[in-house]
Amino acid sequence: MQKKIAALEKQNRKLQRFYDAYQQVQSNEKERVKELNCLYQVAQCVVLERNTIAALKKIVHIIPTGWQFPQNCCARIRFKENIYLSPEFFASDICQSEDICIDNETVGAIDVYYHPDAVAGTPDPYLREERNLLKGIANIISFYIKKQKDDEARKIIQKQLLHNDRLATIGRLAAGVAHELNEPLGNILGLAQLSLKLSNLPEQARNDLTRIQECVMYSREIIKQLLEFSRNAPVRKEKICLNHVIENSLTFLAARCTKEGVAIEKRFQEDVFVMADANQINQVVTNLTVNALQAMGNGGKITFTVKKAAGKAIFSIEDTGIGIPAENISSAFMPFFTTKDVDQGTGLGLSVVYGIIKNHGGDIKVSSEPEKGSVFEMSLPLEID
Ligand SMILES: Nc1ncnc2c1ncn2[C@@H]1O[C@H](COP(=O)(O)OP(=O)(O)O)[C@@H](O)[C@H]1O
Ligand SMILES: [Mg+2]
Repeated sequence: MQKKIAALEKQNRKLQRFYDAYQQVQSNEKERVKELNCLYQVAQCVVLERNTIAALKKIVHIIPTGWQFPQNCCARIRFKENIYLSPEFFASDICQSEDICIDNETVGAIDVYYHPDAVAGTPDPYLREERNLLKGIANIISFYIKKQKDDEARKIIQKQLLHNDRLATIGRLAAGVAHELNEPLGNILGLAQLSLKLSNLPEQARNDLTRIQECVMYSREIIKQLLEFSRNAPVRKEKICLNHVIENSLTFLAARCTKEGVAIEKRFQEDVFVMADANQINQVVTNLTVNALQAMGNGGKITFTVKKAAGKAIFSIEDTGIGIPAENISSAFMPFFTTKDVDQGTGLGLSVVYGIIKNHGGDIKVSSEPEKGSVFEMSLPLEID
């Protein structure tokens, strides 16, 4: 009898072990399903959501659902200077973290917290699978942010290409019109000058003819700039030192700066050489400096910088003027775009600058803050000294 009881008890214990193991398998299975479900929802979120902030807000809500004790779990995503929290967030010492990295740079992190009371006595409340799950979520977020960044860059390039295309079309059109107008204008000027030579010319007629002559000269100046902007002729390039060319331009501009109380600062790190047409670079510096002076009214500072960076020759002109409102930035390079009075500007200065820099295989960038000032930065292919 005794023996039978012992055998039954042994049998019972065995059954209990089987049952426990079965329960464990079932509970593990439940956990895996939860984790997979969480990962699936996160993945779905990044596929469907186009806005990074909205996606991160949704993901931080989803994360706790994948953990063993979701009611006592909360999550936080840090990305750049922003923080996103799951509902009823709390921070505790029981934390699991994973970095969000893009191109080997850490740009944020995900933290998952447990309430200490809920996991008291559990030595390591985070399962191995949960650690992998957090890594998986961090990878998905990194991939998503990188993709958003690339999409953004692509959009900017597309916009820029469209802009360049429009400028090129306007340039060709302007060149055609300018060419056609040059001849009749030359005739008007010639005839006005001949008429001015007539003796016994009434005073009124003389004044009118002089005015005609001035207007033609002004129109020709505009045409000259238009042709400059759209010139397709190869530039007369030679090896020049940017620093010297800019110094040279400044000798002509310095007097006007002093008169208007504007200080000049030169930041020339070293001699930088480029293959360029010195006259045209001089025109770039002059146009940009005149714009800078006009933007400052009275007093201020213009900083001229020449340097080498990323294998390019860089020169920039920075002012402390009124700045360019964001909505005008892309129009500023368009021919005839001007915010100035008729006698102050033709709206051709920047389009000429743009044409010259592009013809030299270079690039121009502008950044500006209203009421603080503007920086025009040009890059040109570097010539080895
Ligand atoms: N340094 C600057 N600061 C503020 N605004 C500027 C500056 N440079 C250009 N701009 C803006 O861009 C417009 C176009 O410049 P530009 O092509 O040189 O023509 P213009 O000087 O004849 O108006 C200007 O009318 C002005 O509104
Ligand atoms: Mg100008």
